[in-house]
Amino acid sequence: MLHSAVINVMVKAARRAGRSLKRDLGEVEHLQVSLKGPRNFVTAADRRAEAILLDELVKARPGYGFLGEEGGARAGTDRSHRWIVDPLDGTTNFLHGIPHFAISIALERDGAIIAGLVYNPANEELFVAEHGKGAFLNDQRLRVAARSNLAEAVVACGLPHYGRGDLVLARREIAAAQQHFAGLRRYGAATLDLAWIAAGRLDAYWERDLSPWDLAAGIILVREAGGFVSDCSGGDAIFAKGEIAAGNDSMHGQLLRLIKEAAKEAAKEPAAP
Ligand code: IPD
Ligand code: CA
Ligand code: CA
Repeated sequence: MLHSAVINVMVKAARRAGRSLKRDLGEVEHLQVSLKGPRNFVTAADRRAEAILLDELVKARPGYGFLGEEGGARAGTDRSHRWIVDPLDGTTNFLHGIPHFAISIALERDGAIIAGLVYNPANEELFVAEHGKGAFLNDQRLRVAARSNLAEAVVACGLPHYGRGDLVLARREIAAAQQHFAGLRRYGAATLDLAWIAAGRLDAYWERDLSPWDLAAGIILVREAGGFVSDCSGGDAIFAKGEIAAGNDSMHGQLLRLIKEAAKEAAKEPAAP
């Protein structure tokens, strides 16, 4: 499969940063058993990966802006283009030596995402998509799953943790999911949840309290694989609200109905302590 120049730039950057993360994952596995634990080391691994991505992407497209989770926003001379980067999505998994994490790179032009990449260096799965050109996993064309029966659906979600998010709402949503889906999963890497929707592995996914770097690349992967994304009310304020619901046309619609219903029920309850 021949990709455009910009996808090649993204792939080169992701593979270099991926080699660094993979080396560091080996070290994390050793540190699990040490008293100090791997937390500081993982913070450094995350920063090292972002520095590599910044270096590669700026070298290839010097004028573009850059928004990275670790380093924040850097304006470029080219005001219409911006990279949106999560150097390590699934940090908690990485910290525990769980090989489910990814590098995520998106390219935005005039506020619209035009290309996206999600790469898990632990299993070499590389997902890419470009506007109007389709979505691919290691050069194989992707389509979202065709299933439309909720009772057969495997669905991923996020979960509020450490006091973040709305616990009452999350409990209502999970209760609804348990009643309707074949399986509910919490994998811990938002970019891969979206990539797996594109690959037809998951039927639907929703999550709140996310940032642009968790969402940008995955959104174009899902859309280019024929799927649908929206905020959790069905609108297009995904970035503004930091939330997403995704799936094929039918699953997306059914998921939205369930979570809207759950939100109504949650609104009647007092906030969780
Ligand atoms: C996190 C992961 C996780 C999601 C969190 C994100 P990070 O990103 O995507 O799945 O539930 O809310 O912040 O911190 O590992 O880059
Ligand atoms: Ca993330
Ligand atoms: Ca991250």
